[in-house]
Amino acid sequence: MQSGGDFSNGFHGDHHRELEWEEKQVGGLSSLGRAKRRCRGGPRDLKDGGANVLRVSDQLGEQKSLETSESSPPPCTDFDVAYFHSYAHVGIHEEMIKDRARTETYKDAITHHQSLIQGKVVVDVGCGTGILSIFCAQAGAKRVYAVDASDIAVQAKEVVKANGLSDKVIVLHGRVEDVEIDEEVDVIISEWMGYMLLYESMLGSVITARDRWLKPGGLILPSHATLYMAPISHSDRYSHSIDFWRNVYGINMSPMMQLAKQCAFEEPSVESISGENVLTWPGVVKHIDCQTITIQELDSVTAKYKLKSIMRAPMHGFAFWFDVEFNGPASSPAKNTGENCAASGSSSIIPSGEGNQKKRTIPSDALLLSTAPEAPPTHWQQTIVYFYDPIDVEQDQVIEGSVTLSQSKENRRFMNIHLEYSSAGRSFVKESVMR
Ligand SMILES: C[S@@+](CC[C@H](N)C(=O)[O-])C[C@H]1O[C@@H](n2cnc3c(N)ncnc32)[C@H](O)[C@@H]1O
Repeated sequence: MQSGGDFSNGFHGDHHRELEWEEKQVGGLSSLGRAKRRCRGGPRDLKDGGANVLRVSDQLGEQKSLETSESSPPPCTDFDVAYFHSYAHVGIHEEMIKDRARTETYKDAITHHQSLIQGKVVVDVGCGTGILSIFCAQAGAKRVYAVDASDIAVQAKEVVKANGLSDKVIVLHGRVEDVEIDEEVDVIISEWMGYMLLYESMLGSVITARDRWLKPGGLILPSHATLYMAPISHSDRYSHSIDFWRNVYGINMSPMMQLAKQCAFEEPSVESISGENVLTWPGVVKHIDCQTITIQELDSVTAKYKLKSIMRAPMHGFAFWFDVEFNGPASSPAKNTGENCAASGSSSIIPSGEGNQKKRTIPSDALLLSTAPEAPPTHWQQTIVYFYDPIDVEQDQVIEGSVTLSQSKENRRFMNIHLEYSSAGRSFVKESVMR
């Protein structure tokens, strides 16, 4: 688990602004960072076009055509090519598989739903190394279509073979939007979640697979996902990156502070915080039922929030995290705390006041993978949108505003974050891009 000194803020760009509505601040300096799990691929990562060629495994001698379906799939852009290329590297798969909270919860979910998998046909959307497909085959699946557009599919095929499962697990090397599967399936499994849940925009591909192949009433794992947000106080982080410049080996380097703020806080930061950093009960940004969500709903998600600080503290920004649930099709979907939903499909109102600021109710037998600050650490950590300057809040002070997450027009794998917040009569806007 990473502590205050290790942050991923690996974005480049100048599409950021945080301004008090009255007082605009200077913005626009870019920062460098490390790539982590997810594709941070921009044009700089593009390889020469070859990955546009779709390859489909001919394992088992089955007829897998390269034809596209009647409703033509979205084009595979250069950004998608870079995205799939990033998944051909072993490191990204090593990091995911070594994330025990992640991998063991998926394994437990497969075991938990074994009666719905045994003798059934499964699609693994984005199989990577094939690990989830193999778990499903071991749970007794009749056939598993393991689909991945990245060259990691070549390894997946070998891994399947090494485990004597080539008669059950069919590796299809291509996009789920493009490959052909000539039967309906009973189960879809996928590990599609990006930072802040929606970064990377892979859920759209799961929806495509669902709409192409899943039988009515089929099982989707995970079944539900919820994105949360809460204001945080993180003085150590602020001191580490900003106050540090006040006195460097006895030299007053405070003129560096403005630049340090821009570089440290311009973009969302993937890092681990603890429950003690969180200033309010979390609010729900978006609850997703994987059986019913549409691709259009994911273009832009807006939530309003009104939260009450449980302590007096400097507020440094907002943290975002998510959980996913693994429920069977029969279990009633965990409710979206109903009252959070506003009339608009893409908007939710987060209630305020101690009485109704509560977490969603999750069925007691539901399997849950949580990336909350108080949950066991995962490679997703939490995503923090920092302010350039902290705001002091009193105990019981109301913090309210709205957040809009939208797919970047420049690259749909990127996410635009528009955050509005008001406290004690002052209002601010922070815009950033997660690249
Ligand atoms: C987060 S990884 C999960 C890998 C593996 N299922 C696991 O759990 O270790 C997601 C994988 O999905 C693949 N992927 C993403 N979108 C896809 C699409 N539209 N079609 C096929 N594969 C896709 C990526 O190449 C990547 O290997």
